[in-house]
Amino acid sequence: MSPLLEVEDLAVEFGGTRVVRGVSFQVEEGETVAVVGESGSGKSVTAQSLLGLVPHGARLAGGHIRIEGQEVTGLAEEQWRKLRGERISMIFQDPLSALNPSLTVGYQIGEMFRRHRGLGRKEARGRSAELMALVGIPDAARRLDEYPHRFSGGMRQRVMIAMALALDPRLLIADEPTTALDVTVQAQILRLLRERQRAERLGMILISHDLGVVARAADRIAVMYAGRIVETGTVPEVYERPAHPYTRGLMRAVPSLRDDRPLEMIGGGPPDLSKPLTGCSFAARCPFARDVCRENDPEPRPLGPGRTSACHFAEEVIAHA
Ligand SMILES: Nc1ncnc2c1ncn2[C@@H]1O[C@H](COP(=O)(O)OP(=O)(O)OP(=O)(O)O)[C@@H](O)[C@H]1O
Ligand code: SF4
Ligand SMILES: [Mg+2]
Repeated sequence: MSPLLEVEDLAVEFGGTRVVRGVSFQVEEGETVAVVGESGSGKSVTAQSLLGLVPHGARLAGGHIRIEGQEVTGLAEEQWRKLRGERISMIFQDPLSALNPSLTVGYQIGEMFRRHRGLGRKEARGRSAELMALVGIPDAARRLDEYPHRFSGGMRQRVMIAMALALDPRLLIADEPTTALDVTVQAQILRLLRERQRAERLGMILISHDLGVVARAADRIAVMYAGRIVETGTVPEVYERPAHPYTRGLMRAVPSLRDDRPLEMIGGGPPDLSKPLTGCSFAARCPFARDVCRENDPEPRPLGPGRTSACHFAEEVIAHA
């Protein structure tokens, strides 16, 4: 059977600059894959491409995206519109900018049912109230008639989750869904996402800066650096025995994951992708770098089932965990 989502060698360019450089990964039904990596590494552009929503000025420059075995690259906008919401949906970091301030919350959720399912007003309203209750909005029947600004940040994010789940999609993409929320609300929203994901056997892509969030919420992790996935594996594998020096650096910079050793920061910054790149994109910052690294760009290679690393010296890095 085909995986729920299969991304193969995806490339996205802004002008002549390739910001997503050959990204490949899969998501199976019922699993959560976290995508982590520093700002600008290409997480959001990758996620948007999966919904046929490359940002203005960007272009899909190559690769394949398959949803339940169906090739979706090259679909017309009209076909994408059917896929979005019905098979894949997305939750953004900032729910306020995704909601219309001049329409009630109930109207906006109901719109999903009216537009995609052809339901009448009353029926759509009933379904919206059910969904709001399902995502933990108290007193849902009454709150349907309120406008988004009356909702707290956490409650707005619940509204977004309700809208994302309305049409029973198979894959949910959550791009930094909790960074705008305070810590206790973050935990509640993650718990809700995890609960719905398990109940519906959804595939989920969770994009996050926060390695603590990822450790709790994901099954597998994909680490992005400079437009490429440099490591994949299960959460315990990648946390305990990273196979790429960049991941190793990320783990060492997180206080809660480390007990005794002092914190280490990764010095320097990512390469400028608008300039030609020879060799490994991490070489300038890498404590393991050798001459070969500056000459040959390491392709991601399998290290075991579901485990990949784009490092010439992956085995050595694992041994140094
Ligand atoms: N509208 C745009 N025009 C030009 N370049 C862009 C645009 N949007 C993104 N980029 C570039 O694409 C690259 C990837 O951006 P992306 O937003 O995917 O990063 P990210 O990993 O999501 O970062 P963050 O963690 O900050 O959200 C960056 O180098 C960015 O400069
Ligand atoms: S290939 Fe070389 S420079 Fe790149 S991450 Fe591995 S050791 Fe470091
Ligand atoms: Mg982003």
